[in-house]
Amino acid sequence: MENMFVLNNIRKTYDAKITSRPALVIEEEFSIPKGKVVAIAGYSGSGKSTLLNVLGMLDHPDNIQDCRMEIMGKELSFTKRNKRWKFSQNGMDFMQFRREHLGFIFQNTFLPRSLRVYQAFMFSNGIKGLSPENENIKKALREVGLSYEVKNKNLANARVNALSGGQLQRVAIAVAMSKNPDIILADEPTSSLDFTSGKEVLTLLHDWVRQGGTLVWVSHNLYQVEQYADIIHVMIDGRIQKTIDNEQKATTENEKFKLVETLEDLLKNAE
Ligand SMILES: Nc1ncnc2c1ncn2[C@@H]1O[C@H](COP(=O)(O)OP(=O)(O)OP(=O)(O)O)[C@@H](O)[C@H]1O
Ligand SMILES: [Mg+2]
Repeated sequence: MENMFVLNNIRKTYDAKITSRPALVIEEEFSIPKGKVVAIAGYSGSGKSTLLNVLGMLDHPDNIQDCRMEIMGKELSFTKRNKRWKFSQNGMDFMQFRREHLGFIFQNTFLPRSLRVYQAFMFSNGIKGLSPENENIKKALREVGLSYEVKNKNLANARVNALSGGQLQRVAIAVAMSKNPDIILADEPTSSLDFTSGKEVLTLLHDWVRQGGTLVWVSHNLYQVEQYADIIHVMIDGRIQKTIDNEQKATTENEKFKLVETLEDLLKNAE
């Protein structure tokens, strides 16, 4: 099976002055296979966002020189001189790769509030010259359930600060999907959505994976995880404590309940 990510020997501590407890420790090979919905579940503070940020190389491990990071079969190394990740083989800058191949949906969408929605597509995806009438933007917004015309106004032209939390979250998802990435890293993408919109967005992401995408999805909603994930990693205290293969999805209510109960037990025992 082709892997999108392979990580090993990783340690990330945020502030060594305050705590010596690392937020993330990986001591055995950890991989994300292509074409799967991979969920990271765990209680608050267990290191889920840290793992996602390390995968996207927004955060650097402490042991930058001897950690192992591989993306789409290619090894990365860190150059101290300009503090950047590059592909060991051909020296290509990782930033360029990230722009083209990785989509992010952050836990807290940090779009500048004065931006208009169509500008958010340009801002986040590093492209220029899009208009509010752009067909791809319209399509992306429609796909996440944001109707293009809201009260006879073009939503693409609305200011980000005029949107509700749920609308903003859907814009962030539309932005990530519209650049047609190979991988999406999503941190609680449905946390501000109601039950029905959450289901719609997860179905959309799930279908996108079935068409060849790869999703790494942080969630604390064990019911959603049970329903949509192919693989479930349970994080406790900065470590992947257990991995559950969920591809043969539970079919009876009883089986579903059991899986959620197992996840709950794992997390409860860790507290
Ligand atoms: N920027 C930071 N500076 C200092 N400590 C941090 C920082 N970000 C995270 N931490 C700490 O690292 C640990 C892991 O945090 P992380 O954000 O990865 O948890 P999480 O599992 O995503 O939690 P949540 O479900 O609440 O989002 C926590 O103890 C947290 O306090
Ligand atoms: Mg988090």
